[in-house]
Amino acid sequence: MKNCLCLVITVCLTSGVSPLARQTFGSTPGVRLHNLMPVPESIEFKQGRLPFRSSFTTAITGPVDKRLEAAIDRAMRRLEGKTGLTLARGFVESSADATLQIECSGPGMAVQSPEEDESYSLDVDSACARLIAATTVGVIRGLETFLQLLEGGRDGEYFFPSVTVRDKPRFVWRGLLIDCCRHFQPIEVIKRNLDGMAAVKLNVLHWHLSEDQGFRVESKRFPKLQQMGSDGLFYSQQQIRDVINYARDRGIRVVPEFDMPGHITSWLVGHPELGSQPGPYHIERRWGVFNASLDPTRDHVYKVLDKFWGEIAALFPDPYMHIGGDENNGEDWTSNEKIKEFMEKKGIRGTQALQTYFNQRLLAILKKHGKKMVGWDEILQPDLPRDIVVQSWRGQKSLAEAAKKGYQGILSNGYYLDHMLSAATHYAVDPIAENSGLEPSQAGLVLGGEACMWGEYIGPETIDSRVWPRTAAIAERFWSPRSVKDAKDMYRRLERVSVELEEFGLRHNSDPDVLLRRLAGSTDTAAIKTLADVVEPVKHYVRGQAFPATQFTPLTRLVDAARPDSREARRFGRLVEEFLADAPRFSARRDELVEMLGRWRDIEPEFQIAVDQSPILDEVAPLALSLSKAADAGLEAVTFLRKQASAGVDWRDSKLKILSDASAPKGEVELAVISPLKALVVAASQ
Ligand code: ACM
Repeated sequence: MKNCLCLVITVCLTSGVSPLARQTFGSTPGVRLHNLMPVPESIEFKQGRLPFRSSFTTAITGPVDKRLEAAIDRAMRRLEGKTGLTLARGFVESSADATLQIECSGPGMAVQSPEEDESYSLDVDSACARLIAATTVGVIRGLETFLQLLEGGRDGEYFFPSVTVRDKPRFVWRGLLIDCCRHFQPIEVIKRNLDGMAAVKLNVLHWHLSEDQGFRVESKRFPKLQQMGSDGLFYSQQQIRDVINYARDRGIRVVPEFDMPGHITSWLVGHPELGSQPGPYHIERRWGVFNASLDPTRDHVYKVLDKFWGEIAALFPDPYMHIGGDENNGEDWTSNEKIKEFMEKKGIRGTQALQTYFNQRLLAILKKHGKKMVGWDEILQPDLPRDIVVQSWRGQKSLAEAAKKGYQGILSNGYYLDHMLSAATHYAVDPIAENSGLEPSQAGLVLGGEACMWGEYIGPETIDSRVWPRTAAIAERFWSPRSVKDAKDMYRRLERVSVELEEFGLRHNSDPDVLLRRLAGSTDTAAIKTLADVVEPVKHYVRGQAFPATQFTPLTRLVDAARPDSREARRFGRLVEEFLADAPRFSARRDELVEMLGRWRDIEPEFQIAVDQSPILDEVAPLALSLSKAADAGLEAVTFLRKQASAGVDWRDSKLKILSDASAPKGEVELAVISPLKALVVAASQ
């Protein structure tokens, strides 16, 4: 920013222009990059800056609100942490004297809902910053933007650039599902993830709390649920209330999910009388779809559900309760003569219709307790009223179909974090497809989306690196205008956001290194890290196919340390792209490319020494060898290109064979650098 001749440029986000504010640096045309994620609806940089010094003060105009004060206090502590400066505690009386002037009209809704006003405006000039919002939640959102604006100047001073921000979310429902059933997640994991969510303006924690593999909440009315269905790993009601308050302080709703009628085994361990078969039932330790299902034909089941949901409705203030409803295969229904008789007597044709019957009775129960119902796609059957919300895990299309039928919906297909896909892949999915064919009124029924962190392969040590930083990119998809979709710029900002998220104790960047040290049994992890940095866990549901896992399987292999979106592989891809674009000289980025490839080629024999000390690494030893050979092919390709000599088709085919062999997963990880290596080899043979 120093020596810059700043021009004011309004960024028009809705016209598809890149969401970067442009300005001129001296005589050199440049780009005014910012680090905001999610990108606001509109942002306009101006000349000047507001210095951030220890004399920085804050004043609040509007009604006194403890939640507001606490949010501002947290923001100030984070600014201190970023800058090393110590600020005066508390607030100044007169707004005119304050560096940060916050005007908040009121606290907002007593119980936050999708109708909450989250908008804010932020104006920074060289004298002060003004943050204006109708609600505390709006201020909370604006403070995150303010913090992300902080920059360090070369003159040894931190500052906020002069700017005008007008901002509100594109979608009102922006969630993260955390499955605490397949593996239990302690409260501190939930809290640090709530902090991360607030930092990127997410507003719903969808808490998946019961499953075949565990029932995770203390029920006072039906204590056998947690006593027999959780291995002692459940949240007390006090802990739940604590999490709800923690979330509310950050403008986040907590929507609990108790999946039914299927995914119900853990309930039936203590209450087999609710099941469609006599039992006995045991907590499932494996993954998949099981037959266990509530018996939808017996009044006793609904009496229990009425009491249970009554207890849950009182515990969770959110207007919405999630009833799951997915993957009920009907097997335990069709193999029960009494259930079949019931269906015949009532004229219920098929298990889907029986599930609709169950859902209708469940809906009446939720309504009685003052709650709205959310469920997965499968609940969408004729005869269900329009006031339910459908969460689509099957696709944009099914969400659009639900909207056409008049149902509100949220999208999760495309945002499954357990698929181990890149941030860019998720980022490219919009809750409303470009060609959805929805009328504006129907599009308005799409409330937003949720990233889903299913828990089969996550423990407290690996969850953060699966959720973050990719979820920040998804959060931007839900908040920012549709036109904000430049993946390259997203990755640039994601790098910074990823580091900022560590302020909350999130361990996505540190836990993988901890696991590498455990794998090595040593602090010397250089060779293992070389491999770990260029592999990714196998995608979609490939994990578990070759090595069937259970709830007891340790999550400490290389696949658990590997990141789902390898930075090193992305960097390599960029280097190759720039190198090949520099034809016929082939000099751009060559040194870096050769250094990288050389390091990979030379991974042996050091990797073998690590394997000799740590047999747990045996399974990936072949991959280190493959990487070495593949890198060697890449180095040969660089040499041919540099000499401007064609390598010929025989050479090409033999190298492509090496690369193809190297792409086979080992130990449930795969090399993430094969495509750019192929591009090098093909280019060298032309
Ligand atoms: C789901 O993935 N079965 C909701």
